[in-house]
Amino acid sequence: MRAIEWSNGRLKLLDQTLLPNKVEYIEATDHSIIMDSIKRLAVRGAPAIGIAAAFALAFAARKIRTDDPNIYANEIRQYADEIGSVRPTAVNLRWALDRLLRKAFAFTWSVGQIPDLLLSEAEAILAEDIEMCKGIGRNGASLLPDICTVLTHCNTGALATGDYGTAQSVIVTAAENGKKIRVYVDETRPLFQGARLTMTELLARGIDATLITDSTAAFVMQKGFVDAVITGADRIAANGDTANKVGTYGLAVHASYHRIPFYIAAPTSTIDPDCPDGKHIPIEERDPKEVTEPFGLRIAPVDTPVYSPAFDITPAHLITAIITERGISYPPFIKSLRIFGTEEGRGRSDDN
Ligand code: MRU
Repeated sequence: MRAIEWSNGRLKLLDQTLLPNKVEYIEATDHSIIMDSIKRLAVRGAPAIGIAAAFALAFAARKIRTDDPNIYANEIRQYADEIGSVRPTAVNLRWALDRLLRKAFAFTWSVGQIPDLLLSEAEAILAEDIEMCKGIGRNGASLLPDICTVLTHCNTGALATGDYGTAQSVIVTAAENGKKIRVYVDETRPLFQGARLTMTELLARGIDATLITDSTAAFVMQKGFVDAVITGADRIAANGDTANKVGTYGLAVHASYHRIPFYIAAPTSTIDPDCPDGKHIPIEERDPKEVTEPFGLRIAPVDTPVYSPAFDITPAHLITAIITERGISYPPFIKSLRIFGTEEGRGRSDDN
């Protein structure tokens, strides 16, 4: 199952809000449909959001009706700001948009050529993301012992990326390499990406996976059942502080207490070299109804006050290593991430 399908000039987004009960695709013919799909998590996961945003900007570029490069530049920037504001934490969104803007502003071509060039760039981002995910799997699999139980959180599989995934790519590659891998999957409140999406993917791949409630994670660590924790990331600051699905920080604290290695797996497009540390990462807050009425079932009194950050920050000192497609980064991350986080080190096409 792929989250984003691009073929014959048509973009289809798998509506992940319906999984695992229904497999339905959204025909994305307009940037506003893509924005809405990102907002309501029909398409989600940092890399997948970046890819979808790139197509959104390429589609929006077709609507601009002017031959004046300055007016064109203004309008396309406005579209990029609009698309970029939909989900603030995953830096892949802004990374992809900035990459398209750089392409548009090269101005070695006429304004009329820009929409097609942006579409090619969006296609390139999709193709590169798939390769990055394979690289993360190859690099990370070597960190896992031959017999190993991993705990993971949220969804980091093909559904969250172009294909293969990030943390899940490490798990699946290790299993494909002949390692005996078991996985504890946090259900991931409030939207259950672990239960709905990760379990679907791991079972389909024949991985030995067991679902636990988020609050069971500390107990399985205490019982000595877990050899490593691996999660994805939505933004990695220059010093290694990492934003990921809320609950990740708690896992890192528990892992540290129980002396279990805690790994982050992410493409270099998730590293934000302009963000010095976790305090500077904007944290998205979600609709309280996602907590009080999950999937339309009211579980709290009407008017219950809710605080619902979608992500939290794991400080760098709790992270054992950061696995990217370019290699494994170890502390001090401020140094080791520098090469991966620069434009030279990140996945990008050569002609920008
Ligand atoms: O709110 P979501 O479902 O978009 O959150 C996704 C996550 O937090 C993932 O762990 C993260 O994006 C890494 S995905 C490869």
